[in-house]
Amino acid sequence: MANLKQIKKETLEQNPSLLNPVYKMHEKEVRVVLRNCDVIDPEDINQYIARDGYFALEKALALPPVEVIELMKESGLRGRGGGGFPTGKKWEFAYNNVSDTKYIICNADEGDPGAFMDRSVLEQDPHSVIEGMIIAGYSIGAHTGYVYVRAEYPLAAKRLQLAIDNAVELGILGECVLDTDYSLNIEIRLGAGAFVCGEETALIASIEGERGMSRIKPPYPAAKGLFGKPTIINNVETLSNVPQIIFNGPKWFKSFGTKDSPGTKVFALAGKVKYNGLIEVPMGITLGEIIHDIGKGVGKKRQFKAVLTGGPSGGCLTEKHLNESVDFDNLVRLGSMMGSGGMIVLDDHDCMVDIAKFYLDFSVDESCGKCTPCREGTIQMFKLLEKISDGTGTVEDIEKLRDLSVSVKESSLCGLGMTAPNPVLSTLEHFYDEYLEHVNDKRCKSSSCKGLINEYFITDKCTGCTICARRCPVQCISGSLKEQHTIDPSICIRCGECFASCNFDAIITK
Ligand SMILES: Cc1cc2nc3c(=O)[nH]c(=O)nc-3n(C[C@H](O)[C@H](O)[C@H](O)COP(=O)(O)O)c2cc1C
Repeated sequence: MANLKQIKKETLEQNPSLLNPVYKMHEKEVRVVLRNCDVIDPEDINQYIARDGYFALEKALALPPVEVIELMKESGLRGRGGGGFPTGKKWEFAYNNVSDTKYIICNADEGDPGAFMDRSVLEQDPHSVIEGMIIAGYSIGAHTGYVYVRAEYPLAAKRLQLAIDNAVELGILGECVLDTDYSLNIEIRLGAGAFVCGEETALIASIEGERGMSRIKPPYPAAKGLFGKPTIINNVETLSNVPQIIFNGPKWFKSFGTKDSPGTKVFALAGKVKYNGLIEVPMGITLGEIIHDIGKGVGKKRQFKAVLTGGPSGGCLTEKHLNESVDFDNLVRLGSMMGSGGMIVLDDHDCMVDIAKFYLDFSVDESCGKCTPCREGTIQMFKLLEKISDGTGTVEDIEKLRDLSVSVKESSLCGLGMTAPNPVLSTLEHFYDEYLEHVNDKRCKSSSCKGLINEYFITDKCTGCTICARRCPVQCISGSLKEQHTIDPSICIRCGECFASCNFDAIITK
């Protein structure tokens, strides 16, 4: 059996830099899930062990499963896959459901556009997920585990497989885990990259070899999941929190975050911020701290407009929400949601109608087609948005869009359809004037809806910096350095490159 203490000692002697403090992008970050990222070699199991890896498993295996579940309940950990369901409670359901066979599944489908948190954890710290899975499997009495990872993540799948093989070689996984009478085999299942397959019942269907389609709940997977057996499905980030909670104790975990959303959250901060990338922050941090302190804002020349949390299932929040706490319940209260952790910042060059259309287009494509509200409703919503953005929409269309959004939300079968209208509803709530401008004035002031743009003009705000002329793909802009430029409308293809590149707001549309 692997002597974890010995491996740790020898590895640290060879590589003392593994004791270096955890890397952080900003002082406001707290790295629990990302603690090993950029620190260890993910292909070396010894380096994971050197940073206390698999010690939590050793500790958990010495306890009866109910006590492990109790620790998880005490920690207050909530699922990081989007729903925020209490992890300990979910494990308890599966534990109480008596069955000869149970399963543990890691959901690594990660289909949100703009999100890459789970991918990074799998690529840079795969053992933390495996350790979390073994602890979860032990707690509920599962002897088979699957990691459902999308095939577009080949490096993640490769490193995960290597990590599984190395853990088996050391007796940490497989028959008699760490010399106990508990056994668990973990296999990888590659998904073909359908967003709906991240939804737990569709994911189960996909592993069973069926078409990835959701089914009505209840029964929940903890009662009747994979092949009809009690199954726990947890997200990558949820599982990689587990070893840290067992190792450091629930009290330590609760020292970060808020009372009802303890711990940290990893976000993929993207869009119009100076610094983007993965960040891990304590729950309860404000949106403003993330965007302005960590992301360093949208830059001097632009104005912050909105932030989208929760990807295609989420909503937009605005300037007035910058002091709001980022936690599961507050984001829902504000009309958005945590989702899995995509966070896209928008500035005054972004059109909210266009953004709603972008996300809805995604949902239309990704709807599994099983239920009518989602299959047909999202298409009709998309057509209304197209009308609004190409200049043929009316105020009645906006109202139809709102009504339809509510119907799709209330009557869809699964989370995909239930949340697909969120970007539309939240942009309607916070940016209704922008919708009206599109239908009444036939104007898109951020120059995103090309159907509404007849011509671009350069005003006397132009400083003659030449950037627009250099960016123009059809060379329709002329002028000398430091002098006002002009656009030749007979050549202009209205691509919007000049508008997007101008730092002086000198280009307007008509
Ligand atoms: C359309 C849709 C896509 C989803 N995609 C994911 C995903 O990629 N990863 C994930 O962990 N959860 C995803 N979920 C949530 C899962 O259904 C499930 O709640 C989650 O895996 C449970 O794990 P947790 O309790 O650890 O959050 C998705 C849900 C919906 C409705």
